[in-house]
Amino acid sequence: MIEKKQMDELFAQAQKIAGMAYAPYSKFRVGAALLCEDGKIITGVNVENRSFGLTVCAERNAVGTAVALGQKRFLALAVSTPDSEEPVGPCGACRQVLSEFMPPDASVRFAGKGSIVNTTIGTLYPMDSLHELKD
Ligand code: THU
Repeated sequence: MIEKKQMDELFAQAQKIAGMAYAPYSKFRVGAALLCEDGKIITGVNVENRSFGLTVCAERNAVGTAVALGQKRFLALAVSTPDSEEPVGPCGACRQVLSEFMPPDASVRFAGKGSIVNTTIGTLYPMDSLHELKD
């Protein structure tokens, strides 16, 4: 588990980067921030496309950037959705992708304009499958 102060900082980075989202179709901006095991923070935003199915979520864009920078283990994730009142957590596809690089007890925080959810990737993605193909 990471300290509250560290998660506050991670969420602040997610909030900041959400402003860079490319979301002209849904008008729903998302910012994601990953805390890497060496303490570095790597962010991502959702990038939409006029061919809607090509949209990539903020979380998966953050993972792609992180892996390209040599980071393969994340201790925490924060997701900011400034256009929603309610907290919006990672979609199912992102939960699967995140679980590849996060231990089940890794902290996850997500929030919109209102209440905040603090949980773990193991709670969001229980009974993880295909572990026999990993490591
Ligand atoms: N989206 C994310 O980036 N992450 C999530 O966790 C949920 C959804 C994006 C995809 C799309 O650009 C917009 O939010 C509306 O679904």
